[in-house]
Amino acid sequence: MLLFLLLILQTSLKGSCTSVSGHCRFPLGMEDGRVKDKDITASSKWYETTGPQFARLNREEGDGAWCPEGQLQHSDSQYLQVDLSVLTFLTLVGTQGRYARGLGKEFARAYRLNYSRDGLTWKAWKNRQGNTVIEGNKNTYAIVYKELHPSIIARYVRLIPVTELSSTVCMRVELYGCPWHDGLISYSAPEGQLMMPPGYPPASLNDSIYDGTHERSCSGGLGQLTDGVVGMDDFLLTHEKQVWSGYDYLGWRNDSQGTQGHVEMEFVFDRQRNFTSMKVHSNNLFTRGVKIFSSVSCWFKPRLIANWEQETVTFRTVLDDRNPSARYVTVPLNQRTAKALRCRFYFADVWMMFSEISFQSGENPHPDLKTSTHGELKVKSNDPTEETNTPILIGCLVTIILLLVVIIFLILWCQCVCKVLEKAPRRILDEEVTIRLSSCSPANTDPHYERVFLLDPQYQNPAVLRNKLPELPQSAEASACGGGYAEPDVTQCTPHQSFHSNAPHYAETDIIRLQGVTGSNMYAVPALTVDSLTRKDISAAEFPRQQLIFREKLGEGQFGEVHLCEAEGLPEFLGEGSPLPDRDSRPVLVAVKQLRADATLQARNDFLKEIKIMSRLDDPNIIRLLCVCVSSDPLCMVTEYMENGDLNMFLSQREIESTLTHANSIPSVSLCDLLHMAVQISSGMKYLASLNFVHRDLATRNCLVDRRLTIKIADFGMSRNLYSSDYYRIQGRAVLPIRWMAWESILLGKFTTASDVWAFGVTLWEIFTLCKEQPYSLLSDEQVIENTGEFFRNQGRQIFLYSPPLCPPSLFEVMMRCWSRNITDRPTFDGIYQTLRRHVRE
Ligand code: ADE
Repeated sequence: MLLFLLLILQTSLKGSCTSVSGHCRFPLGMEDGRVKDKDITASSKWYETTGPQFARLNREEGDGAWCPEGQLQHSDSQYLQVDLSVLTFLTLVGTQGRYARGLGKEFARAYRLNYSRDGLTWKAWKNRQGNTVIEGNKNTYAIVYKELHPSIIARYVRLIPVTELSSTVCMRVELYGCPWHDGLISYSAPEGQLMMPPGYPPASLNDSIYDGTHERSCSGGLGQLTDGVVGMDDFLLTHEKQVWSGYDYLGWRNDSQGTQGHVEMEFVFDRQRNFTSMKVHSNNLFTRGVKIFSSVSCWFKPRLIANWEQETVTFRTVLDDRNPSARYVTVPLNQRTAKALRCRFYFADVWMMFSEISFQSGENPHPDLKTSTHGELKVKSNDPTEETNTPILIGCLVTIILLLVVIIFLILWCQCVCKVLEKAPRRILDEEVTIRLSSCSPANTDPHYERVFLLDPQYQNPAVLRNKLPELPQSAEASACGGGYAEPDVTQCTPHQSFHSNAPHYAETDIIRLQGVTGSNMYAVPALTVDSLTRKDISAAEFPRQQLIFREKLGEGQFGEVHLCEAEGLPEFLGEGSPLPDRDSRPVLVAVKQLRADATLQARNDFLKEIKIMSRLDDPNIIRLLCVCVSSDPLCMVTEYMENGDLNMFLSQREIESTLTHANSIPSVSLCDLLHMAVQISSGMKYLASLNFVHRDLATRNCLVDRRLTIKIADFGMSRNLYSSDYYRIQGRAVLPIRWMAWESILLGKFTTASDVWAFGVTLWEIFTLCKEQPYSLLSDEQVIENTGEFFRNQGRQIFLYSPPLCPPSLFEVMMRCWSRNITDRPTFDGIYQTLRRHVRE
């Protein structure tokens, strides 16, 4: 429905624009399969699995792309051919390389386009400067879109990868445009002429993009009269930059050879059509001797090999000496049937200039509103003076309003029904859930105790669960808000509210503000305002972006990408005492976080804010910002590169060191390594706590590991798909790492260093389970929240994470203290650090 609305809106907007190509950008079906496999062919393929049918953008079938056979040479003309089944107005091409889930390496750095309307005569696409080569991809995954200026009218398209050096190339492709309903496949006209307006540069009124032959006259092709670019009132002005004046018009002088009083043009169509009208966009700048034609006579031919029929259609225009606007002149063609037309346009002044000609034929019930084969709506004409689209616009707007009312009604109704359903008792699962968990009930204080825990079936209903959540007494809340951690501003000590309240603690805006631009969750920092951010707030130095050489993509967030880059001359740039590790004369590798080019203003501000925060942090266990590129777009921040990726991935791929791992050379870590990691994280957190920074999302997924097993705390936020199951979505609003969150963060929205300590306990638990299991893996998200209520009630029914088999009991005690119900009972990071250091020494 939304798509429909958008299409209508798009259609209605078309009426007010000057260029058809600006709106005609529908994907033509490579990605979604509307273009059938049989219609995608190629000059060759490397293997069956890299055949042309795999050339679909964003698809990963087969080996992930079309690859022509062998190494492509500079002189080669291997091609991928797409048959679009109908004549199509093409405006945009998107290409991608072979990603193949990270295994692919091949892409086309450049390509050419050939096209054909009949499958027999092929034409090479050229841009307005006459270049045929289009810049292609720079890596295997990113889509590069190229606008076609001029656009192409064709049914068949060939993409021809181009390479300077011998190399393997692979491509995935989408074509964008809309069906070409006119059915015009060629026109011929006398060559346009040069005008020398006194006091102005010469205006060349030729058909510079004509794709037929230019022998005295133009024949057998299409060009400026069908490129969708409507000329301006002043013909000397142009829509395109870097072209000569008069570019948008094809124009003739009355007294010149071949134009004695008229200009004759012929039009050939794809099939016999029943013509209703012809629209000619004409200039009328009479002050410079230009006027629309005074009359036109057209002859018709039912077949190509036939004589012109005797009977003509003649139409006289009303000449206008008052309004100098360029305009569409509609010529009625009286439902004449023909495959070809010859029209003679008679001069009304010294010059006659056309920028567009279109035909409306009987197949289309309404000449202005056409339905494409793909179901989109397309407005063809936009003449503001002659015809108006107002009724259509009004119709569309009324439809939109009605639809919106229906949608709003449906949403309200849905919400109502959902509420009723939520209140209704759910099917109760009378199932015993056996959970290997240790409990901290008063009756069982042994942390190694494992018991069979019978979940009360009523708690399996989230609605019941929420009702069961604690009614927080004022006093309890007051104590929850107090505690030993003075955290100005960031502590949200909200008034008494249950989780079920209408005013959730995690309003979407709160969460978005916390979220860094590349998906990062910024450390919560006291008293930082977005508005006040300027370049001078950023203490990191500006690095010349051309010295960042892309190596590979490390990750992707909602608002940008992280790339591994080589930073040329970075040590010299950073100077003496630079924080870079020893390089052993190897190139300096850095991680470059880059904001998407189309990011919103809010995202830009957040990105700068993230930079500002990071540039304040200076600790060996916090990821370090080295420099930035913010003087131009895209905004970039450059951080240290950590060769071993994130700690979760690192540990989950390892076993604990043993004779077996030695013998089988399985990647391993020792208990001592694990302890050392824990010490480093506690040290980094000690530093953050000393600055009153609250992290809010401490977890192994947010720690990075370098080649020497140094751990640095970072923050990638919640946008990485890999870890999406670690985050809980509250009714589509906030995304929360509930399994790492203290009870007061979940129930009261209160994030403090003490809640970071809780998360540290869970992170420690992850480390000693070698990240092989998600915390509370046997509990659903709802049950985790239910358990939070138990933590609050503190009646001995709360479930704790079990002691990992590898974990020394004294260390599990540290974890348990981190999960103390009373905030003041939790250790400080300094305390944790000292305790863990003692463990390392023992
Ligand atoms: N992924 C994101 N940032 C990174 C970094 N700094 N080092 C390694 N991998 C990363």
